[in-house]
Amino acid sequence: MNELSKISPRLADLVGVSGGPMPASLYTDPEQYELERERIFRRAWLIAGREERIPEPGQYFVKEIPVLNVSVIVTRAKDGKIRAFHNVCSHRGNHVVMDKEGKASRFTCRYHSWTYKNTGELIGVPDEGGFFDFDKKKCGLTPVACDLWDGWIFINLQPQPEVTLKQFLGPFGEQFANIPYPHADNCLILTGEIKANWKCLADNFSEFYHIQSIHPKTLAPVYAGKENPCSRPIDAGSFGPHRSLAGWLNTGYAPPANWTVVRWLYPANQTVTGTQQEGQVNPLAEHPRVNPSKRADWSSDVNWIFPNWHIQISASRFWTHEFWPRTRNTSSWEARFYQPKASSVRERLQLEHFTATIADAFLEDLANIESTQSGMESGAKSFVYLHEGEVLVRHSLEQVDKWTRSARVADALS
Ligand code: FES
Repeated sequence: MNELSKISPRLADLVGVSGGPMPASLYTDPEQYELERERIFRRAWLIAGREERIPEPGQYFVKEIPVLNVSVIVTRAKDGKIRAFHNVCSHRGNHVVMDKEGKASRFTCRYHSWTYKNTGELIGVPDEGGFFDFDKKKCGLTPVACDLWDGWIFINLQPQPEVTLKQFLGPFGEQFANIPYPHADNCLILTGEIKANWKCLADNFSEFYHIQSIHPKTLAPVYAGKENPCSRPIDAGSFGPHRSLAGWLNTGYAPPANWTVVRWLYPANQTVTGTQQEGQVNPLAEHPRVNPSKRADWSSDVNWIFPNWHIQISASRFWTHEFWPRTRNTSSWEARFYQPKASSVRERLQLEHFTATIADAFLEDLANIESTQSGMESGAKSFVYLHEGEVLVRHSLEQVDKWTRSARVADALS
């Protein structure tokens, strides 16, 4: 056993995937994209948001699903229940809600003022007597299947979902339940429109192999080191279509001596994404599925919920990424970094430093994601080759292939 294999176990075996090259057409083929639209995004349970976004009755937000040209209102009514509806008026089809979020017990379409309760019923139609054989009860907002798991709101765009959210999440839902997410009501949001297939975008945030190449100053000092120069992960697993990876930490890292402000901002050896300090008890890191092998040289976990959502967790914080297809080779990206509200100058400066560092790292990522898509579009290469550390990319592609070949969701989940 060499030194590196002591750090990083056989990840492909842990995840249960093969090792051969994968077709580049998965990222470029128009027919593949159409299959993904219909067989993945129209059938899978999709993340809509965190329930803390709408804690009070009447609060709502609108979730756009560009891959299906769908707009969904997610709202909490007086009974406390969260419901979802297509954001489409029963009169002539205008969008009913134009704001991204807000608070209202009823929604009025701005075109001709049809009005709906936030439980979906149509309650107001100007000059109602002018319509023919009109039954208001049949003209409410069209419901969208909606369910919650551990504070996360999911929607499903099948009129009758083939499987429940519980069945869709399977063992992942059981093992990753009850994670004590800190500061779940407050987040910094970063978004972008990227010229790349949604999988090319998601892949980037699921592997550490690229860190020493494109993040030499921002992330590599923390996530790579002499013992592990290519940031081989320390653990991995798969849970039906979902997957997880644990990243390595350079425990010898310390900000350079002349970074006096950074040294003042953070405790010794603390990293920008949060590292467990010796002797520190952090409920987040105690959860059995966070840093599952409970190693001291752990930086953070990437949990990738099929198809397009990551929850990433370090010892002191969590953040999410959503990757939404817009076309075959364009995507929308949204990251949410959950964090405490600053209560001192030092905490405020920590947040500013965090934001600046993360934004720099993402800019380094994004340029390479777009040029990767462009290279694949050229048709020069028929296959991509995946390193063992890119095991989540491989599992994702295998699951995408499985879902697009499966006539029924039950077959895709089997
Ligand atoms: Fe909504 Fe006419 S389209 S009221």
